[in-house]
Amino acid sequence: MRNNHIIAANWKMNKTPQESYNFVKNLRDKLLDKPDVNIILCAPYTSLFYISSFFNSENFDLGAQNMHWASEGAYTGEISPDMLLASSVKWVILGHSERRHIFGETIDEITKKVVRAVREGLRPIFCFGEKLEERREGKTKEVLSGQLSPIIDRFNESDLQEMLFAYEPVWAIGTGLNAEPDQIQEAHHIVREFAGENVRILYGGSVTPANATELINVEGVDGFLVGGASLELESIWKIINCVYNARIRSN
Ligand code: 13P
Repeated sequence: MRNNHIIAANWKMNKTPQESYNFVKNLRDKLLDKPDVNIILCAPYTSLFYISSFFNSENFDLGAQNMHWASEGAYTGEISPDMLLASSVKWVILGHSERRHIFGETIDEITKKVVRAVREGLRPIFCFGEKLEERREGKTKEVLSGQLSPIIDRFNESDLQEMLFAYEPVWAIGTGLNAEPDQIQEAHHIVREFAGENVRILYGGSVTPANATELINVEGVDGFLVGGASLELESIWKIINCVYNARIRSN
């Protein structure tokens, strides 16, 4: 994983267990000859256990989209770290902007989740990003720093290198408007300034087969967190190939 490019698929609230099963079965067979790209598939909770048997190769991991910070108890509707681990989940998306802005998750709650995930042996995909009005007001650096430092301050360098950071500007999510290379570089630079040069950083926000080659070649981008374009086998497969070919060319 250390130097491989990474593509994480965030299916959000899409796909039944049976739909997930059919998709993953097809994708897994295709992936066998792409060992240099790591795929993390973040499925809805109801699909996780159902598809877990497919995730037995080096470059194909199962991820969840959220979890609670407590280990068990009276938290109606929540999912614990142990429940994820028992479904062969290795990664968990935390701090996604939809959790922050639709469900009102606070920096404090997100931090508790990240700390708990690391303690339990789950690897966070920590999402951060600014809203359009924050960018327009020139507050991007301040907002990103405010989201990043509570997390980064709690871990040493080797813990930070085990997680993934995903820069997802809110205005680029699901809009068809991806961030420009210099905006991505600036955000990735802020992470590395705080967390060290060796952390792994993904870009997310309207990644498609049409822009994947340009975006993967932006300096400092280690891979993508893909939403809408990960729901169709053909489009995620094209993105995987763009990333794979870029990797081959750079070797
Ligand atoms: P889209 O790729 O649909 O813009 O979603 C990005 C995202 O939110 C991934 O977590």
